[in-house]
Amino acid sequence: LGQKLVFKDEVDSTQDIAHQLAREGAENGTTIIANKQLKGRGRLNRKWVSHHDDGIWMSMIIRPEMAPYHASQMTLFTATSLVDTIRKFADLPIKIKWPNDLFMDGKKFCGILTEMQAELDHIEYMIIGIGLNVNQEINLFPEEIQNKTTSLAAQTQYKWDRIRLIQQLLADFETNYQEFQACGFSYVKDKWTSNAYKLGERVYIKMPKKSFEATIEGITDDGALLVNTADNIVEKIYSAEIHW
Ligand code: BTN
Repeated sequence: LGQKLVFKDEVDSTQDIAHQLAREGAENGTTIIANKQLKGRGRLNRKWVSHHDDGIWMSMIIRPEMAPYHASQMTLFTATSLVDTIRKFADLPIKIKWPNDLFMDGKKFCGILTEMQAELDHIEYMIIGIGLNVNQEINLFPEEIQNKTTSLAAQTQYKWDRIRLIQQLLADFETNYQEFQACGFSYVKDKWTSNAYKLGERVYIKMPKKSFEATIEGITDDGALLVNTADNIVEKIYSAEIHW
């Protein structure tokens, strides 16, 4: 995995390049990394601010041997692997907000965007996009997100070596991926749960047609969030936004 690396200085989005390479047959693990993105994108059609070379903006092409309904396992896996890597550099209070945002001190500093090309019964390829804020000063972020966004440097008060971080990230991804394949999802699930944000706490679940309060209980094998509602009913949530 990650053997073939494609470095670019400036691109619209590394996701687009990854899709193009994947369609052209790029091998499992091919990774595209850019210094700057002009049109970085996040989940739910949001913009991802990545105009400068102060973060890690990368997209990996993965051709996993799994059914499409298990695809979210890959995203949850990625979040746990990133936590492992960052902790090797500094013992930081990182939490994973379902499904896969990384938070510190109540602020987001990393997001994962998974896109895929799949048939009913098999995944052609997945593109796992990682946006990790590394060396930004908080005042570089757009004003409207300044109070809810952070970067590794803003938290630790020192600049990080992006290249070393990328190397470690790819190495850990590879080792952890092998372990995930050998041991199955329970290994990821345990790791995810032990780093879960607001586990056992009351949050607001916002869905397109309803919103309600519930307690986070964990995740299921298909990557859904398990919550306990006011009536003590356990529900599986596949798509929603969590607030508090
Ligand atoms: C999110 O939190 O909504 C996910 C953000 C994902 C951003 C990364 S940066 C590299 C890759 N290219 C993009 O355009 N997006 C992802």
